Amino acid sequence: MPKSIFITGGTSGIGLATARKYKSEGYRVGVCGRNQEVLDSLKDEFQVYKVDVVNLADVKKAIEDFATDGLDIVIANAEIGYSNKKDTPDFDMARKIMDINVTGVFNTFEVATEIFLKQRSGHLVGVASLAGLNGLPGVPAYSGSKAAVIKICESLNIDLRKFGINVTCINPGFIDTPLTQKNKHPMPFLATADDMANAIFNGVKKKKANVYYPRLFSGVVLTLSFLPRILYRYIISGGKYNYTKY
Ligand code: NAI
Repeated sequence: MPKSIFITGGTSGIGLATARKYKSEGYRVGVCGRNQEVLDSLKDEFQVYKVDVVNLADVKKAIEDFATDGLDIVIANAEIGYSNKKDTPDFDMARKIMDINVTGVFNTFEVATEIFLKQRSGHLVGVASLAGLNGLPGVPAYSGSKAAVIKICESLNIDLRKFGINVTCINPGFIDTPLTQKNKHPMPFLATADDMANAIFNGVKKKKANVYYPRLFSGVVLTLSFLPRILYRYIISGGKYNYTKY
C-alpha cells in the first residue's frame, strides 16, 4: 500500500506545492479546503474534502474517511493572514486568525493523533512561520498564532515520542503564494512554493523537529530572536522605537 498524507489548506500555495511533491514521490494524497470549485479542479490529482478546519466535526469526518486506506503524515497548513491598514489593532480579525491558525491546528492534530495512537505510528506536521519567532509589528495576531504553533509542536514533539509519533514544525520565510502576492512591503529572500515543498518533504523525511527555510533569512530571524528584547524592539522599528514610559 502506498504511504498516505493529508494536508489541510492543500488547495493553494505551499499546501498545494507540497501535495504535488508527495504525489510525485508516490504517496496517496488527501487535501482539504473551503472552495468547492477549487476542490473540483483538483479531484483528478488528490482525494479532496470540503472542510473548514475550525469545525472539528468536518475535520474528523474528512481525515477519518481518508484514513480508511491508511494515514502516515498529516500537515496542518491551512491558515489566514492579513495586513492591517490601521494604526490600531484589529481585534475582530485577531479572533478569526486565532480560530483558523491555532484552533484549526489543534482540531487537525486531535483527529490525526487519535488515529496515530491506535496504530502507534504517524507524523504530525504544523506549519508555523518565521513570523512566530519574534513579535512582528502590525501583525500581532498572525505573529502570535504562529508562535503558538511553534510551541504546540515543541510540546507535542516531547509528549508523543513515547507513542511512536513524530512531530515537525515548519517555519517558512517569505514564499511566493497567494498569501504574499498581496504584500506591498519588501520580501527578502522570497522563495518559490516548490522550493518550500522540497524543504518540507526533506525535513519530514529526516524527522526533524524544526524546518527553517530559506536558510539565510532563517539565520537572520533566529539571531533576532536570541537578542535582548530591548535591542530587538530598537532594530525592528528601524531605530524609531519610543522608549518614553507614559
Ligand atoms: P495560501 O493562502 O496560499 O493557502 C492557505 C490555504 O489555507 C488555502 O488553501 C485556504 O483555502 C486554506 N484555508 C484558509 N482557511 C481555511 C479554513 N478555515 N479551513 C480550511 N482551509 C482553509 O497561503 P500559503 O502562503 O500557502 O500558506 C500556507 C502556510 O504557510 C500557512 O500556514 C502560512 O501561515 C504559512 N506561511 C506562509 C508564508 C508565505 O510567505 N507564504 C510564510 C510563513 C508561513
